[in-house]
Amino acid sequence: MRFLFNQHKEPIDLAEVNPNMTVLQWLRRNKHTGTKEGCAAGDCGACTAVIGELATIKGKKVIEYKSINTCISLVLNLNGKHLITVEGISEGNRLHPVQSAMVRANGSQCGFCTPGFVMSLFALYHNENEIDLDKINEALSGNLCRCTGYQPIIDAAFLIFETKDSDNNDYFSNNKSQLVQSLVRINEDEPEQFSYTSNDKKVTYDAPTDVNVLAKTLYKYQDAKIVSGCTDLGLEITQQLQQFGHIINVQNVHEMKSIHENDSLIEIGAAVSYHSAWTLLVRSFPELEPLLKRFASRPIRNWATIGGNIANASPIGDMPPALIALNATLKLRRGDNVREVRLQDFFISYKKTVLLKGEFIKSITIPKLVKGESFTVHKISRRYEDDISAVCMAIKLVNDGPNLKEAVIALGGMAEIPKRATMLEKTVTKYWNKRDIAKRSYESLKEDFCPLDDVRASSEYRLQVSANLIKKTLLNRINKKVPNLAEPIEN
Ligand SMILES: Cc1cc2nc3c(=O)[nH]c(=O)nc-3n(C[C@H](O)[C@H](O)[C@H](O)COP(=O)(O)OP(=O)(O)OC[C@H]3O[C@@H](n4cnc5c(N)ncnc54)[C@H](O)[C@@H]3O)c2cc1C
Ligand code: FES
Ligand code: FES
Repeated sequence: MRFLFNQHKEPIDLAEVNPNMTVLQWLRRNKHTGTKEGCAAGDCGACTAVIGELATIKGKKVIEYKSINTCISLVLNLNGKHLITVEGISEGNRLHPVQSAMVRANGSQCGFCTPGFVMSLFALYHNENEIDLDKINEALSGNLCRCTGYQPIIDAAFLIFETKDSDNNDYFSNNKSQLVQSLVRINEDEPEQFSYTSNDKKVTYDAPTDVNVLAKTLYKYQDAKIVSGCTDLGLEITQQLQQFGHIINVQNVHEMKSIHENDSLIEIGAAVSYHSAWTLLVRSFPELEPLLKRFASRPIRNWATIGGNIANASPIGDMPPALIALNATLKLRRGDNVREVRLQDFFISYKKTVLLKGEFIKSITIPKLVKGESFTVHKISRRYEDDISAVCMAIKLVNDGPNLKEAVIALGGMAEIPKRATMLEKTVTKYWNKRDIAKRSYESLKEDFCPLDDVRASSEYRLQVSANLIKKTLLNRINKKVPNLAEPIEN
């Protein structure tokens, strides 16, 4: 198992490691303590580092730099990649441009969060040539600071780009081609499957690159735990202190990392990350963009996959309601058998799905909208950014000319699984455009769901807000005709 580390000339070769070990644990046990542990849950960003990963763009090998929460990523997933931490970006006494900008802008006080901010800004420095506030906010969306406040850090981000043209000479830019060659070398003997068993023979880790090898391995070891972006599974390790005996990583499987599109549908490999799927999803479904922006934070979106979001079967996962309303289907594979299941039939009960032992999600197919169809999605959470939904509602409306023919409505946060609201769908179809639509929706929602009271919202709030979201959707649709929303709705 080999990876590049900071500015070390030779790759690190890990001889003995527990496959359940996180990158953060490995760093700190090896005295690379610049990277901090705050929450160990992907929430605070103190542990942020950057991964350089080989990619091919227009036939040319390049390195993509992505921020990552090291507290919830597995050290064996570094195989073939470049791990860059706060200790590895300055050269001798010369601070990295990001670090000097933080000093000049007074971007640090107690300093605990600073390595994480510096690394998020380092990724931004390598990914952008021009900057604006939106890009800065996005890059810093996974970092919390409790004492400096954000303005000096944002000022630092602007400062970096004021001088970037003349300053664009950090170690990683100056040694770009050598670093690409090094990564090519450590990846060139890439087998169909990288496998590792700990010295005590207690834990095995497999990372196939070929989907047939994945199918075979998972069929043989049916109790193995699948990991993809590790943004859910990582919490089981760090928060619930679970240790898995056999881990199978699907995030290097080429076929599951690809996206296919034609005029009528998009097929997204289950191991495609939210960040990689973003452009294509938003091109076909612009209404998804606000939801994607509010999905976790940039370091989580860099790694979290749509397949993982579905397989996790959380009642409050953001993508399932949207995909159910869009009538998405899943390709599930077990051994040589592939079956298709509509997403709305995938969830059985709390955290239970139709997936059999040894079976995995290979891809997700989403039909594109056709003439007369429109789509919208609403996320309600206590905090606007980086928060899990209290309620997530997705609505597809099918119109026949000016008349509403059908409403497909799916909700998360209202039951033990994400699911369609069948009574509400009937009510909306029948009473759409009526003045009392919110009241009628509320009554139907009570028939569809009996939501929980929990820390995110009370049962009553969930019902009321969902009914109001129906009205909001209606108002948004007629907004062009009725600019003043206070005006009465036509009956
Ligand atoms: C700080 C933070 C914020 C978050 N915010 C949000 C949010 O706003 N909205 C939201 O919906 N979620 C959120 N999440 C949850 C998580 O990021 C998503 O559910 C994510 O999409 C999971 O994908 P993953 O690839 O990381 O899954 P993993 O953690 O790798 O796996 C999750 C589960 O799915 C299984 N699995 C993964 N891939 C497959 C496959 N192909 N076939 C079968 N089983 C598979 C694994 O065995 C595991 O049980 C957040 C998580 C964190 C830590
Ligand atoms: S320690 Fe808080 S995100 Fe990793
Ligand atoms: S400088 Fe103290 S938490 Fe950010």
